[in-house]
Amino acid sequence: MGSGSSAIASISEGRNFIGIELYPEWKTIAEQRIKNANKANRLRCDLHLGDSLSVMRKIEDQSVDFIVTSPPYWGILGKKDHKANGERVARGLATDYGNKKSDLSCIESYADFICVMREHFVEYYRLLDKKKYAAVIVSDFRHGQEYHMFHSDIADVLRRSGFIIQGLIALIQDNKKLYPYGYPTAYVPNISNQFIVIGRKL
Ligand SMILES: C[S@@+](CC[C@H](N)C(=O)[O-])C[C@H]1O[C@@H](n2cnc3c(N)ncnc32)[C@H](O)[C@@H]1O
Repeated sequence: MGSGSSAIASISEGRNFIGIELYPEWKTIAEQRIKNANKANRLRCDLHLGDSLSVMRKIEDQSVDFIVTSPPYWGILGKKDHKANGERVARGLATDYGNKKSDLSCIESYADFICVMREHFVEYYRLLDKKKYAAVIVSDFRHGQEYHMFHSDIADVLRRSGFIIQGLIALIQDNKKLYPYGYPTAYVPNISNQFIVIGRKL
């Protein structure tokens, strides 16, 4: 759930909502925002504290109409040299979500992280009703010398979990500062977008 933005979008669309968050601090923030947003609508909002896989495993098959997730990916906010960190520190915001063992962003290896994503997507597939969609919001990222096409890996895992990929939306973030990475010895493009990978259960 993070700070609950997806929950609020869901409420403004008149949808009931199931949210899962690992940390009590973030759940409390989301809860407060959801309470304010849901005053008029009185939609059903089930907010769970715990590990997403364990919580999902208790939810009935085909009982969900839409899944939206922005998974915390592979320790990226915790990277000390990550530029987003400097900007967040300057704004007095948290630079990570926490350090619990089951925290997805604390998984050390990218391969292990992708395996855990797969376990999640298998659950998404089971929970979703037929003909319904899952939307995964992700940002590609750079680690060391390498650029990781995370959106492409996510599409592959969705496909292997049974989903039919429906498309890709690019969210342009042109309000971000641009940095002269690599200059003057190399060309390292800035990352100024996120992706939404859309899969469907047929
Ligand atoms: C990028 S944020 C989600 C933002 C959210 N979509 C929104 O609308 O604000 C990712 C969240 O996943 C939580 N998280 C990490 N590992 C988790 C796990 N195993 N189970 C449940 N939540 C987890 C983090 O604490 C963080 O709040």
